Amino acid sequence: MDKITINTPLDMHLHVRDGEMLKNVMEYSSKPFAGGLIMPNTLPPISSREEILSYRKRIVEAIGDEQFEPLMSIFFKSSYDYELLESIKDLILVVKLYPSGVTTNSEGGVLSVDLDEVGETLSAMEKLGIPLSIHGETNGSTFEREAEFLPTYELLAKSFPKLKIIMEHISDRRTIELLDKYENLYATVTLHHLTVTLDDLLGGALKPHLFCKPIVKTSEDRDALQNLVLSGHKKVMFGSDSAPHPQEQKESGNGSAGIFSAPVLLQGVVELFDKNGKLENLQAFLSDNARRIYELNPKEKLVTLEKRNFTVADSYGGVVPLFAGEKLSWSLS
Ligand code: DOR
Ligand code: ZN
Repeated sequence: MDKITINTPLDMHLHVRDGEMLKNVMEYSSKPFAGGLIMPNTLPPISSREEILSYRKRIVEAIGDEQFEPLMSIFFKSSYDYELLESIKDLILVVKLYPSGVTTNSEGGVLSVDLDEVGETLSAMEKLGIPLSIHGETNGSTFEREAEFLPTYELLAKSFPKLKIIMEHISDRRTIELLDKYENLYATVTLHHLTVTLDDLLGGALKPHLFCKPIVKTSEDRDALQNLVLSGHKKVMFGSDSAPHPQEQKESGNGSAGIFSAPVLLQGVVELFDKNGKLENLQAFLSDNARRIYELNPKEKLVTLEKRNFTVADSYGGVVPLFAGEKLSWSLS
């Protein structure tokens, strides 16, 4: 096959920032995708009804004439009660929970993810039918952070059986086992965790543009994630975690975590499914699973790619992308 059309591709985990950066990066998502779940870890984080509305407005302005539905989120606070959540339910798709300090702009996150601290809010979300999106890492040793968080996922899944819980950007093969163990657990997977390993990040030269949280892991983890998504697993959605930072900030002595993958996402995902002879499961991963899990009904947008070499630029809008300077085998038509 040398052409493929994806029906209504969705990016269910996306950072587009604010201000000038938002204006610079939005088109790389709004052209190829029909919609995306916008993360709330701006500075300051999105944490009120007014902030959701005004942030959405700035995003819509940056989208301009493209057809792209920004699905909004709010930054989890233990102070959110039933009344507050009820008043914003129609504006958001998820509440995003960050343990404090685990990643970029997560300082206002929760100090400990235990039932004393988050139980009441989660119980209200469960009653209202608002899904919980989680950055599931501890502040432990870099390579073990996601694995150390697994008991917390289990605790939450058991304590709130009607709450949909999305394990974001899963990166460790040990996390995969939980998906089939609890009905209410779901996952997103990024393109970079499907293609990049720790050896790529620092096995040769140090590649700061491949630095992200959760950190990329071993080839065994990457292969397990590939098998999971290539199988078309119904609880797994595509969520890029595309997270732009200015080049100077990534290349400094105190480099920020985040990989800007938006310009290469569909090309990279199609290449992966094509190389593995699994194109029949591409539509489920890029759209259908998310629609079913989140009960979405997005406006149809057909996006076609063709098998034609695409050389990734060194920089887009002042940000160095994933696969900068490399050649991919699929292009957007
Ligand atoms: O690497 C990351 N960057 N991981 C995250 O969870 C957040 C993101 C960002 O906002 O830069
Ligand atoms: Zn993220």
